[in-house]
Amino acid sequence: MAHRSVAEQAEIAEDQPIVVQKGGTQEDVSKRLQVDFIGNSPVMREIYSMIHLVADSSTPVLITGESGTGKDVVARLIHMKSPRSDLPFIAINCAAVPKDVFENELFGHEHGAFTGAISKKSGYLEMADRGTLFLDELAEMETETQAKLLRVIETKAFRRLGGKSEMSADVRMLAATNKDVARALKAGELRRDLYYRFSVIEIYLPPLRERKEDVPLLVDHFLKHFCHKHKKTLKRFSAEAMKWFLNYDWPGNIRELRNLVERAVILSSTDLLSQDYLPASAAQIHQDSSSISIPIGTSLDAAEKTIILQTLSASDNNKSKAAFLLGLSRKALYNKLKRYGIKD
Ligand SMILES: Nc1ncnc2c1ncn2[C@@H]1O[C@H](COP(=O)(O)OP(=O)(O)OP(=O)(O)O)[C@@H](O)[C@H]1O
Ligand SMILES: [Mg+2]
Repeated sequence: MAHRSVAEQAEIAEDQPIVVQKGGTQEDVSKRLQVDFIGNSPVMREIYSMIHLVADSSTPVLITGESGTGKDVVARLIHMKSPRSDLPFIAINCAAVPKDVFENELFGHEHGAFTGAISKKSGYLEMADRGTLFLDELAEMETETQAKLLRVIETKAFRRLGGKSEMSADVRMLAATNKDVARALKAGELRRDLYYRFSVIEIYLPPLRERKEDVPLLVDHFLKHFCHKHKKTLKRFSAEAMKWFLNYDWPGNIRELRNLVERAVILSSTDLLSQDYLPASAAQIHQDSSSISIPIGTSLDAAEKTIILQTLSASDNNKSKAAFLLGLSRKALYNKLKRYGIKD
C-alpha cells in the first residue's frame, strides 16, 4: 500500500444483516455496503494504516473532523477490515433519535417496562452483538445516557429497560463527532470520562483544504463513479476547471466536492467539462456565510433545498442548530432532508 494511492472498495455479501440508522429511520442496507476511501496525501496514508492497525482489536475509536471529511467512511472501513466484518454494523445518528426514546432504542426493554411496552424489544446493543456499533454525533447524546454507555464499555454488560438480569455486550464501539471536542467538553456536552475512554484511539480527519493534493484524485474518482451511475460516457474537467477545484477552499469538504462533480456530470452534455459547470457562486456563497443568494427563476423546491443546505453548512452540519435557525423542529428538518435526498 505504501506507494500507491489509497483506494479501497469493499462490499459485504447480500445476505448480511447490516442496519444503518440514518435520519431517524431504519434503512436496511444489507444488500450492499460499499466504501470508497480515496486519498494519497501523507496524512491520508497514515490514517489508512491506522485503520488497519485498529481494525484487529475491539478498542473503542473516536473519529473526529469537520463535516464531510469522511468519518462515516472511516467507521465503515474499520468494521469491514475487522474480524467482525461478517457481523452487523449498526450506525446510529445520536442527533436523529429523539432523546426521550434513545435509551429504549439502545438498551431495548422488557415486557411491561413502561406503559405501552406490550412485548420485549431488543435494542441496538443486542442487534450489534459481536459486531460494531457506530455512534455518530456522540456529543448529541444526553450526558446521562453517555454515563450509561461508558458503563457498558467498561463492564461489557447492560440491562434492558425494566430488566433484572444483565446481558453481555460483545460490541465494538466506534463514535464520531464533527464538533470541536475541547469546546464540547468544556460546555459539558461530552462527558470527560466517556471521551477519555473513546479517545484512547482518536482518528482525526483533516479538512480537504489542508490536503489539496488529494483533490485531483477525488475529482477523478467521483467523475468515474457518477458517469457510470448516470450512464454517461466518461467525462473530464478542463484545465481551467481543475484550477478552480484546486483553488477552492472546500468548506463542505469531500461531500461538497462529490456533490459538485455529480452536478456537473448531470448538467453537461459534452465530454469536456468547463468551469461553466461549476457554480460560479459557490465561492461567494461561502465567503459570506451569513446570507444566501438564490437566482430569479429558481423553483421553490430548489430554493428550499438550497436554503437548507446552506443553513446546514453555516451550522457546521449541526442539525439542531440548523433546525432552530430554520424555525423547524428537528424531526421536520429530517423529513425535509429525506424529501430532498440530502444524505447525512
Ligand atoms: N476518503 C474518501 N474517499 C472517497 N469518498 C469519501 C472519502 N471521505 C468522504 N467521502 C465521501 O464524502 C461524503 C461525506 O463523507 P462522510 O459522510 O463520511 O463525512 P462525515 O465526516 O461523516 O460528515 P458529517 O460530520 O457531516 O457526518 C460521502 O459521500 C463519502 O462517501
Ligand atoms: Mg457522518
